[in-house]
Amino acid sequence: MHATAAAIIPAAGSGTRMGFDYPKQFHLLNGIPILIRTVDAFLENPEICRCIVVVPVEWIDTAKDLLKQHGLNISRVTVCTGGRRRQDSVRAGLALLEQTVDIVLVHDGARPLVDQETITRCCQAARTSGAAIAAIPVKDTLKKATEAGQILSTIDRQGLWQAQTPQAIRRLLLQKAYDEAGDADATDEASLLERVGIPVTIVEGSESNLKITRPEDLRLAELIVQRNTPPPSFRIGHGFDAHRFIDGRPLVLGGVTIPHAMGLAGHSDADVVTHALCDALLGAIGARDIGFHYPDSDASFSGVYSITLLEKVLQLVKQRGLCLANADITIICQAPRLAAHIPVMREKLAKGCQTDTDAINVKATTTERMGYTGREEGISCHAVVLLQTRSRE
Ligand code: CTP
Ligand code: MG
Repeated sequence: MHATAAAIIPAAGSGTRMGFDYPKQFHLLNGIPILIRTVDAFLENPEICRCIVVVPVEWIDTAKDLLKQHGLNISRVTVCTGGRRRQDSVRAGLALLEQTVDIVLVHDGARPLVDQETITRCCQAARTSGAAIAAIPVKDTLKKATEAGQILSTIDRQGLWQAQTPQAIRRLLLQKAYDEAGDADATDEASLLERVGIPVTIVEGSESNLKITRPEDLRLAELIVQRNTPPPSFRIGHGFDAHRFIDGRPLVLGGVTIPHAMGLAGHSDADVVTHALCDALLGAIGARDIGFHYPDSDASFSGVYSITLLEKVLQLVKQRGLCLANADITIICQAPRLAAHIPVMREKLAKGCQTDTDAINVKATTTERMGYTGREEGISCHAVVLLQTRSRE
């Protein structure tokens, strides 16, 4: 199926009721900005081809940076400047939609907990009926009161709904409603449609799809996120490799060329450290070993810089939804002395694993001249890794 629906996410408000000195949509909800959670929910949905994110003019660059930092697919996102009222922001987004978009879903940037089912329900109902909004039935008894707080009457809650977003509408209908409404005030899209006589269907929303408006909403949202976040899962892996010294080759360890009279023999650059790390990573994901993926018999790996193999292995790790929590590497080497080279090795290995330097520990030891490494016949290396399920934090 080719996605033809687009989302407009108005997030250009100032969040006065929240009382922060920055707009509430940039506040971190359990480590991730509210707006990023919202945009991510729409990019995840198979109906959605594009998201237009509307923010205050001075937040454009920050919004773009955050989308990138949190790994969202920015090729499917357009960030633009909003207007004074929510409807002005939506109108700005609407102007940027391609003609190929059939359904527009407008969704408040401040509703980060929208679930996939609600998005899909709204989109499909709009395809059938023209316009649909998520809403939940009113639960409490409703009272009408004077400004002084004196009850005037009880309102029958039968047939009363609390409107949420998404509000999904055929693009041309929404455009028509905006054109005809002119400058009249409207707090949501449905009210614009009602005004021009376009019928709007209600679809089931969700209690959790709350609009974060006041500080107490934030606390509730934090609890909901905690409840919905699966506990991280972990995988452990171990790798071991050994290579023999030969004359006439550079010595490459952990991606660093180290001055020494001899280098290591091998089909690739014989970087025993990077190989042990690759094997630990492959071991952790249950995907055999480096020789299985990049065999000696393949001429394209002849003399290859092993950090490029590490980068390929990391892709396999990421494809399984995992990332490297930390690695601990022990090089067994009588000579040369490695201490001075360890910081650069850590940097190169960390870069290859897309992680921070402090997640990769490298240490070196001699074997007090015992055994094949002690006799300087070669170098060996052990690596252990811990992988964890990837989050966007
Ligand atoms: N919004 C917008 N442009 C505006 C005003 C609001 O895009 N000129 C967006 C908000 O950023 C929010 C959504 O519309 O995602 C719903 O508005 P609301 O919850 O009222 O947010 P704010 O207007 O920012 O908050 P407040 O009313 O407390 O100032
Ligand atoms: Mg507002």
